[in-house]
Amino acid sequence: MAIQKIITEPNKILRQISKNVDKVGKEEQQLMDDMLETMYDAKGIGLAAIQIGIPKRILVMDISKNEEKNDPMYFVNPIIKNKNSELSIYEEGCLSVPNYFAEIKRPKKCEIEYLDYYGQKKNLLAEGLLATCIQHEMDHLEGILFIDYLSKIKKTMIIKKLSKQKDRPDRIIV
Ligand code: NI
Repeated sequence: MAIQKIITEPNKILRQISKNVDKVGKEEQQLMDDMLETMYDAKGIGLAAIQIGIPKRILVMDISKNEEKNDPMYFVNPIIKNKNSELSIYEEGCLSVPNYFAEIKRPKKCEIEYLDYYGQKKNLLAEGLLATCIQHEMDHLEGILFIDYLSKIKKTMIIKKLSKQKDRPDRIIV
């Protein structure tokens, strides 16, 4: 396993639309292992493959608060089948938008169809933090970041500040 570099905004790669995976094989499993390790290292609770520069529809997540035992989740080719009209609000952040947080409204519940780590077809009814996290990660597959939901002024300001951070040679966000 290896920790990969997380791409941060502004970067065109993050705006790419990721492609479906034909088959979950060794290569995809290795990618999921690397993604998980990268996510844990960066102290995130979710990561999409595109965030390490790979445009495949693969997500990893771990929303467990248990510090002793990890509870990794893997989603390949996830599809939202149902969205609840009821909304919930969470303060979201993103490993690709370091140091910024914003309250985002999203459907409170959603039903997801996906392939797991072994390529098995699964269904999941997600609610609360899990639902928000999956929707945030699935946005990455469409090239969408949570700051896209903010006002244009706020978004432009954040991107400007992030670009300046990038100019500083000492700063590494991995
Ligand atoms: Ni994110």
